[in-house]
Amino acid sequence: MSEGDAIEVRRIAGALGAEIHGVDLARLDDATFEAIHAAWLEHMVIFFREQEITPAQQVAFAERFGEIHYHPYLQGLDAQPEVLEIVRNPGDSYTFGSVWHTDQMFNPQPAKATMLYAKETPPAGGDTMFANMYLAYETLSAGMRGLVDELKTHNLGDGSRANRGGKSRAERYAASGMNGKLRDPGNVPTEAHHPLVRTHDETGRRALYIGSHTHSLEGFETAEAAPLLGYLREHAVRPEFTCRFAWRPGSMAIWDNRCVQHQALTDYTERRRMHRVTIAGAAPI
Ligand code: SIN
Repeated sequence: MSEGDAIEVRRIAGALGAEIHGVDLARLDDATFEAIHAAWLEHMVIFFREQEITPAQQVAFAERFGEIHYHPYLQGLDAQPEVLEIVRNPGDSYTFGSVWHTDQMFNPQPAKATMLYAKETPPAGGDTMFANMYLAYETLSAGMRGLVDELKTHNLGDGSRANRGGKSRAERYAASGMNGKLRDPGNVPTEAHHPLVRTHDETGRRALYIGSHTHSLEGFETAEAAPLLGYLREHAVRPEFTCRFAWRPGSMAIWDNRCVQHQALTDYTERRRMHRVTIAGAAPI
């Protein structure tokens, strides 16, 4: 029996999501990583409990999935720039990631995966929701699939997105523990056009590709695109397509941005602090 055979995979919902037990992420052998990777492709988001890892160990684990993707708008830890610290303090009015989205969709080559590790969690609340975008696509009617198959989205990283009330990142972060972490993206692109339906480059499955960064549809006026995007946004996160993860210090999640949307819930008042690493991806096709 190889080490990889020892992991235990427990689904947490019908649509997506599995907890993986029997693993110490600080001491991972290749066979165990292969088993974890296969479970990740199958379940779309995987979770670990009671892990004790340093920022350097988190980066080493992330690098097994691929190259690190750096956030264009946020600075990482001084000692480990690949790791972003996502913080909400008592009294903050902004929560990072609190609208349904898929990470870095405003980049022509969006991050394929995101790894989030809980350092401090509120005693209740502060869960994260995930939604299965394969199911979102597969449950559309044949007529609607025929339409969305042909469309491309226009995605923005900042500023005028209708669904963010026109507030800039600087304005949003100023109201939170993220204040002071903002950086100028410089030459990194923050605007991108993508197919509305993408084919996953590892599983070959088709998924609806939409999120909060989606501003409009290519070739449409913004007002024309809004009703269709509104319908798809609502359809994509129907309760039966979702799972919900309750964090504890030491919990770790890894989600696949090519086929999952996620949303941080805002239902808590105590401090929450997470370490987040993203992994680079290819241009969606
Ligand atoms: C994110 O959107 O990456 C953060 C999610 C969370 O903090 O739960």
